[in-house]
Amino acid sequence: MVSLTRLPRVLLRRKFLCRHVATHKVKPALSISNEVQNTFKFADLSVQLASPDQLQPKPEVADLQFGKYFTDHMLKILYHESLGGWQRPEIIPFENIVLHPAAKVLHYATELFEGMKAYRGVDGKIRIFRPEMNMERMNQTALRAGLPTFDGANLIKCLCRLISIDQEWVPHSESSSLYIRPTLIGIDPTLGVAACASAMLYTILCPVGAYFSGAGESAVSLLADPQFTRAWPGGCGDKKMGSNYAPTIHVQREALGQGLQQVLWLYGEDHLITEVGTMNIFMFCINESGEKELVTPPLDGLILPGITRASILQLSREWNEFRVSERSIPMAELVSLLSENRLLELFGAGTACVVSPIASISYKGEKLLIPTVEQKYPIYAKFRRTLTDIQYGHVSHPWAVTVDV
Ligand SMILES: Cc1ncc(COP(=O)(O)O)c(C=O)c1O
Repeated sequence: MVSLTRLPRVLLRRKFLCRHVATHKVKPALSISNEVQNTFKFADLSVQLASPDQLQPKPEVADLQFGKYFTDHMLKILYHESLGGWQRPEIIPFENIVLHPAAKVLHYATELFEGMKAYRGVDGKIRIFRPEMNMERMNQTALRAGLPTFDGANLIKCLCRLISIDQEWVPHSESSSLYIRPTLIGIDPTLGVAACASAMLYTILCPVGAYFSGAGESAVSLLADPQFTRAWPGGCGDKKMGSNYAPTIHVQREALGQGLQQVLWLYGEDHLITEVGTMNIFMFCINESGEKELVTPPLDGLILPGITRASILQLSREWNEFRVSERSIPMAELVSLLSENRLLELFGAGTACVVSPIASISYKGEKLLIPTVEQKYPIYAKFRRTLTDIQYGHVSHPWAVTVDV
């Protein structure tokens, strides 16, 4: 390599200028569309059907538990930089995966996942809900995790094919659905903490019933303990990485130990409300000006950009019946609203449960009772009805994408 000091003066100056410009140029945000020139294609999908002896018995809807039973097939797509990147997608009989013991996913949690659902509508058609938003979130997480990105539209087509092959697994019930778990893991057989040159994207499906066992319509109780935090500025709370979830298990167990169902995640000195369990949170209240207001924390990096959250905000703005705000909610504000009888409802929102009303928060040794289910016409129930009507085909809506079977 030529040493800088041995270059002629004019070249030296040019080189300096180039470096100067390069370090001061505003770097464009990483655009996924640039990144996904290398993608797998639905057109290359191959299908290997399970043999009759590989088919699993389907559980009764009443016996469904979250993530316990899996369907007969899975989607698998390998990525190897050395072979030109993404390989052909394959649908194969459900099988175990084999990993090298040094695989990055096993050491550095180089992993991300998504959570989507397929619903059997009242007209017998199977629908999925706003899948392009899951693809966007998946690619954003892949970028942050050093995993390869891909074209979401091609994955959606592969997923639809998988669902159509396992269509008999989509429960014939409006309290149930088929959960879709796209997963992307780093599989390089090397221990370096580095971007992945090999990865596996796979998707498994499982029929699911109600998320909270036995909860049905009943509201959940929360533990809000400020000594625990889920995410922080500059971190990955807004990405759907497995590494965000393992550290919550201990705190969830703490909540269960206190006879409570879920954790209300707080952040910072003001004990800002961020999320509830694995849901985004909404507060419906009467504000200082005496107006009804729906408030949810902003997308400031501390919370996951939920698809249910985005949909609730969009519906609220279309309805235009109350004020809608994306702003931080300190616990002190919640406590004060409650003491002035201005806190009407508190609820979580996410794919797993759609909308889940909150009954109480245990905070600083006190149990705050939230009157969510005591409202005459609760807004949480209206959101749930509107979303499930779209998902189960009671109404026709562009958010519902029909799976060709
Ligand atoms: C931490 C967290 N927040 C919020 C959500 C809700 O997101 P969505 O509505 O896309 O399911 C989820 C579930 O995916 C989650 O894991």
